[in-house]
Amino acid sequence: MALPRESASSSVPNDLEPFWMPFTSNRAFKARPRLLSGAKDMHYFTPDGRKILDASAGLWCTNAGHNRAPIVAAIQSQAAEMDFSPTFQFGHPKAFELASRIAQLAPGDLDHVFFCNSGSEAVDTALKIALAYHAVRGNASRVRLIGRERGYHGVGFGGISVGGMVANRKQFGVALAGADHLQTTYNRAEQAYSVGEPEWGAHLADELDRLVALHDASTIAAVIVEPVSGSTAVLPPPKGYLKRLRQICDKHGILLIFDEVITGYGRLGHAFAAERYDVVPDMITFAKGITSGSVPMGGVIARKGIHDAFMKGPDHAIELFHGYTYSAHPLACAAGLATLDLYRDEDLFARAKKMEPIWAQAAMGLKGLPNVLDIRTVGLMAGIDLASKPDAVGLRGYQALENAFHDHDIMFRISGDAIAMSPPLIVTEAQIGEIFDKVAAVIKQVA
Ligand SMILES: Cc1ncc(COP(=O)(O)O)c(C=O)c1O
Repeated sequence: MALPRESASSSVPNDLEPFWMPFTSNRAFKARPRLLSGAKDMHYFTPDGRKILDASAGLWCTNAGHNRAPIVAAIQSQAAEMDFSPTFQFGHPKAFELASRIAQLAPGDLDHVFFCNSGSEAVDTALKIALAYHAVRGNASRVRLIGRERGYHGVGFGGISVGGMVANRKQFGVALAGADHLQTTYNRAEQAYSVGEPEWGAHLADELDRLVALHDASTIAAVIVEPVSGSTAVLPPPKGYLKRLRQICDKHGILLIFDEVITGYGRLGHAFAAERYDVVPDMITFAKGITSGSVPMGGVIARKGIHDAFMKGPDHAIELFHGYTYSAHPLACAAGLATLDLYRDEDLFARAKKMEPIWAQAAMGLKGLPNVLDIRTVGLMAGIDLASKPDAVGLRGYQALENAFHDHDIMFRISGDAIAMSPPLIVTEAQIGEIFDKVAAVIKQVA
């Protein structure tokens, strides 16, 4: 059916209005847009030719830096060779190659990879695998999923059910029945200005025992946590917390899922946070850094025992009724392989580890600036809490973002009134200095 004339004619080329922007204050943005039209290495470029220092790796994803030549070339050549191939009942070589490469990077017996297209899909996939795993083993009563306050697991119904950011949940009904939450690991009074993992708080893992006492282990399928919460402005786990969580999960037969959508692929100086914390979870979700943000891709890495539990019944039967049209899309696989090569060839995970103390020291240098309440760092991540303006929660943070872009040529993330940073892993010492000089200027400007 043809569109009504008014509607067709109301569409103006390059009008900002039709794009309903995600997680954006649309009216404020469209009143004073922040447009990006090019990128290279540590920088974005604006249509009017300004160079913006990228202190957030886009959205925590361009870990290798922007528009790296080998990744660009791999995508171009794959697009010319084969645009799409189904992975339902068919397969293409790069999908298998990439799964093998990812499995090699993962710790322990995490050796099977299920592909999807985003972090949200990865989370929902992991939660579904957890439920189905218990079902195929005859434990179908294990249906509860446990997340944590201040956790972010994307925007699918599974992810918001276990997620712990109130704004992402409150408008969308009751989500999945039976989800519950551990307490956040963050406590400013005990942890303020900790460099890396805070000393205080390992005991908070014991809350899982309390939830088990409340619900009974026989009803709980899985616990999902971000090893470091990213989206609530970088909350590193207290020392020993994740190990304790692993022990309690083991005691009760509960699966442990690490959501490594941000922490995966070098952010904490290792392929995965699981390695940094010496804990082998039952599943790892990943996205973002796998292609350095260049092509959408996500996935779940599962332990051998989880995968193998499904491999029964007649050979011709489908073992897991789950998948996406674009699971292991050829462009994403080509980008993923080129990205992993780049991480290896430039030793970027080790580089992140080497830069961590420099990064932490520069971040902590902002202590004492107006309205700064806490600074947290771990790996190449930093969170800075700013005091909210009276009666206008989020305004200071928004003004910081806006001033940073327009007046200081720098991009970072905000979460309410907190600033969050996670530069590409190629960041130099000089650029770390530049980032924190600019952030200091922004913080003074919004005082
Ligand atoms: C830990 C975590 N899980 C899941 C997601 C969702 O990923 P996506 O936006 O690709 O769906 C994110 C995004 O930032 C994340 O940080």
